[in-house]
Amino acid sequence: MNRLGRLIHSLYARIALVYLTSLLLLSVATAWIAISQFNQLGREFQQRMEIDLAANLARVMQEPLRQGANSPAARQAARHITSINSSLSLYLLDENGRVVADYAQPSCGTADAVDVRTLETLLGDSPMLPVMTISPCSHQAGVFSVARIHYGPTGEPGYLYADLNNAAQTSTFAMLRTSSITRTLVFSGLIALLVSGAIGLIWFGLLTRRFSALIATVRRFSKGDYSQRAAPLRDDEIGHLARAFNDMAGTIDAQIQAMRETDRQRRELIANLSHDFRTPLTSLRGYAERLLDSEPISSRERSRSIQAIMDNADRLTRLSQQLSTLSRLDAYDQPLQLAPFSLAELAHDIVGKFQHQAREAGVTLSIDCEPSLAWVSADLGLIDRVLSNLIDNALHATDSGGSVRLTARAEARGVKVTISDDGAGIAAEEVPLITQRFYRTASSRAQCEGSGLGLSIVREICERHDAPLQIRSQPGKGTEVSVVLAYA
Ligand SMILES: Nc1ncnc2c1ncn2[C@@H]1O[C@H](COP(=O)(O)OP(=O)(O)O)[C@@H](O)[C@H]1O
Ligand SMILES: [Mg+2]
Repeated sequence: MNRLGRLIHSLYARIALVYLTSLLLLSVATAWIAISQFNQLGREFQQRMEIDLAANLARVMQEPLRQGANSPAARQAARHITSINSSLSLYLLDENGRVVADYAQPSCGTADAVDVRTLETLLGDSPMLPVMTISPCSHQAGVFSVARIHYGPTGEPGYLYADLNNAAQTSTFAMLRTSSITRTLVFSGLIALLVSGAIGLIWFGLLTRRFSALIATVRRFSKGDYSQRAAPLRDDEIGHLARAFNDMAGTIDAQIQAMRETDRQRRELIANLSHDFRTPLTSLRGYAERLLDSEPISSRERSRSIQAIMDNADRLTRLSQQLSTLSRLDAYDQPLQLAPFSLAELAHDIVGKFQHQAREAGVTLSIDCEPSLAWVSADLGLIDRVLSNLIDNALHATDSGGSVRLTARAEARGVKVTISDDGAGIAAEEVPLITQRFYRTASSRAQCEGSGLGLSIVREICERHDAPLQIRSQPGKGTEVSVVLAYA
């Protein structure tokens, strides 16, 4: 669409068209009302000024009319009057309003009649002016003056009717042409029309320009510039629209950032995983090759190689278990399998399972938990993961001769489980980081073990149970990790 086409179809053009049309219609209506009221005012003025005219003429005509309506004396008197005012038309009407004598110049006969009710209205007490009637000859409603009169030798009652209508002076068109007031009114009306039209067009232009600016912002946003925001200058509908757009843009922007972050995390996860799988696989292959070697090896070295192969296989198994837990946690549509169970029983089982590992490491693993402890409501399989991970971490962090303890206590909100150790501890700045995926402390990185997934899984499981994880640690003194599980 070209520029002109766009302009014609624009909101501006439509608003301007509706505005100008209604302005024009309003002006025409106002002018029409004003002119017709002026006309009416002119008639009223004329009738008010000459209301006694017929009565005055009746005094002059009374005597000649005694001799008859069309008597030479009556016609003579009427001619005398109309010679003074040539625009005056005089008629003698009977009591029913029928024309008895027509003294108008030129005469138009005696066939017509005038509505007596209008005559009586004007003759009544304080009539509402102008009183108009259809006058004889002209067949047009107009103002008049009337007086009661008796005519003929028998003194018949009738009316002397003076037609005050002067078509040439009272028509709208004539007024337009000849009245300076009307001219000034029309002229100032036209100027007012032009000025208000121009002001309206400029104002609509400013209004639609704000719309156009908003549209341009939305277009830039839709083309991928997510930083675009509208300026909600005023507190009107356009301002509200701009604010609503900004809110929407903010939400979309945040969602895109979140998607990018998820994407980055996913790529990082794949990179970390391939590394975590490659290390044990390479070492597995190395030990297997040594066993296959043609050169004979001592039975001690042989059993060391087999032990290393088993350790690496264990590491891979642990990794794949962690991955399956992670994917289960990521699938948010999978609900937790909440069920009531005895936490005391679970804790004793897990501690028993880790006793062998603790003995090997020379660490005392103990449990402080009443068997009568109230049951909790949670996902048994996932809570097993949480406690196993926490005990495993504590055992890894504790040197030979140290101790690890699981404590479970009933509290107001639920059962609080704490796993404490007197091991290496964690530096204060690392405490908020260790629950992130793949984060490993500097010392753990140096030992080249672990994947850094364990605590992130623990945190996610606890969050899904609405049971935030609390970690307190002092480097060199030990660590305490606790979580409160709701009662069943
Ligand atoms: N009780 C603890 N004492 C000291 N360091 C700990 C303790 N628990 C976890 N960490 C450290 O926090 C980091 C993250 O732990 P985790 O997510 O379980 O990773 P990993 O799978 O490597 O064990 C690890 O580097 C680990 O050394
Ligand atoms: Mg761990």
